[in-house]
Amino acid sequence: MCGIIGCAGTRDAVPAILEGLRRLEYRGYDSAGIAVLDGRAVERRRVKGKIRDLAEELRLHPLAGVCGIGHTRWATHGRPSEDNAHPHTDCGGAIALVHNGIVENYWALKERLKAEGHVFRTETDTEVIVHLVEKHFRGSLEEALRAAVRELEGAFAVACVSSRDPGKIVAARNGPPAVVGFGQGETFLSSDITPLLHHTRRVAYMDDGEMAVLTADGVRFSTFAGAPVAKAVETLDWEPAMVEKRGFAHFMAKEIFEQADVVRDTLKSRVSLDSGRVFLEDTGLQPGVFRRASRVVLIACGTSYHAGLVGKYMLETLARVPVDVEYASELRSRDFVMDRETLVLAISQSGETADTLAALRLAREKALAVLAVTNSPNSSMARAADGLLDLHAGPEIGVAATKTFVGQMAALALFALAFAQARGALSDGQSLELVQELQRVPHKMDRVLGSAAAIERAARRYLACEHYLFLGRWINFPIALEGALKLKEISYTHAEGYAGGEMKHGPIALIDEGMTTLAVVPRDRVHDKMLSNMAEVQARGGRILAVAFEGDDKAGMAAEEVFSIPETHQLFTPFLTVLPLQLFAYHAAAAKGLDVDQPRNLAKSVTVE
Ligand code: G6P
Repeated sequence: MCGIIGCAGTRDAVPAILEGLRRLEYRGYDSAGIAVLDGRAVERRRVKGKIRDLAEELRLHPLAGVCGIGHTRWATHGRPSEDNAHPHTDCGGAIALVHNGIVENYWALKERLKAEGHVFRTETDTEVIVHLVEKHFRGSLEEALRAAVRELEGAFAVACVSSRDPGKIVAARNGPPAVVGFGQGETFLSSDITPLLHHTRRVAYMDDGEMAVLTADGVRFSTFAGAPVAKAVETLDWEPAMVEKRGFAHFMAKEIFEQADVVRDTLKSRVSLDSGRVFLEDTGLQPGVFRRASRVVLIACGTSYHAGLVGKYMLETLARVPVDVEYASELRSRDFVMDRETLVLAISQSGETADTLAALRLAREKALAVLAVTNSPNSSMARAADGLLDLHAGPEIGVAATKTFVGQMAALALFALAFAQARGALSDGQSLELVQELQRVPHKMDRVLGSAAAIERAARRYLACEHYLFLGRWINFPIALEGALKLKEISYTHAEGYAGGEMKHGPIALIDEGMTTLAVVPRDRVHDKMLSNMAEVQARGGRILAVAFEGDDKAGMAAEEVFSIPETHQLFTPFLTVLPLQLFAYHAAAAKGLDVDQPRNLAKSVTVE
């Protein structure tokens, strides 16, 4: 939620900040702003709307300065408006500050600061921080921010500049991510690495409880208490081209078409096609962990939760171990029972989702072994866990997750196989057969993606349909949930995902010609039952689309249209069945002319609870 960026150097910082905001826009896009030191004073431009609106504002009212900060907002406190857009300034207008996170004690602080004479001009929680910095300012912006953050409760990544202590950006982190980039004669601060790739590959990640002072010459790190911190500088292996659209109309389309490669990359060097063994040594988990675990708990939110459900079915079938999949937000509110033999997997593309991170920390406090399954190897979750199962999916810019979902399923398939092998639950022959088929999956995915044009035609034909019921059973029940989620989040169409067996317990009452059912029906252990579901829908005049194996005549007879997928092992069908559903949602949204990559009200990285 919200993206922050800063640039301190000797050339005009505004173009780099604006471009950085464009790359961070997936984190929030209801308002945006920039503040720079123009030599004498702090100058800022803010707009309600998107970064393109900010760019237009800057064209009409240019701004220049060698040191500045920017922000793209996802509103928490205070509606999206120009007044509530960051950067916020103090009473004297000499300090400007951007913030990602939530100040939980802002109300008490605001009342106190108001009583002390500070004048508030916004509805945001953030404004208290800049007034606190003003209050504590004695000539050093660094010391003023240090004193201010000690009074804050909640989560924050903040950056500020001041005309009273010019030439520097001072930043602090407690919760939301902040990464520093080292350029030639300039330094950068950002919520993630994507804006940095065009300037430098040399970065350092701020940890919680740390501050940084950025100048043209370098960066100095310290703790909130003031102790100096020596940081390792890491070199990124992502290419700048990875964050471009490469000819696709939207990032989401590009990312859908990258999915076969994501599976290839996730499997790379982790499986032996000769022996069928799976190697997860790179995760850092001790081999004994698998043998000791009597139960696995998967925690996640959103699409990652659906990947967790697929993982549960794989683990149950292959490793015969009890598995729970929990919404991180719910787990935290419950008196959840976790004993010492519970192995916890936190699944998150960003590695920063506030609820998943908090649930992960809860498990760590109980001394449980925790594995982070994430696409962000330097994220908070990756750092807080005992081990890291890295997806190698490359940057995902579209807010609606696609390739990270497939990467998560691939990682969980490997995990399930490794777990089963460690416990002797699979024979060598079974392992080999499964691993060889898993290796064939990307090729089959490419074949499904090759039929995208037919799916686009279907999505356009069904554009007028306002209600969808996605049905699946067993390992494709989570795919029904995911298909419905994709459709609603990007095309704003009402869609529900249901387990086929539950249809008779409610949703069947909704079936009529205005409700389209999308049945996920590969030939697996529940195929016949799904065909019965389709017959029941058909008998009540409902329209049906189906995802089925090539040549499945029975599915073809019940459905108006079938999206065909090649046959594969029943445990691996989700890799193929999800693709037509992603494409259907994508083309429905694109045909309606919607902002596919930045759907309304959503953000890619939910760093508030
Ligand atoms: C947001 C995103 C979703 C994502 C969810 C969980 O809602 O829009 O695409 O599935 O957060 O994010 P995570 O980074 O933890 O996977």
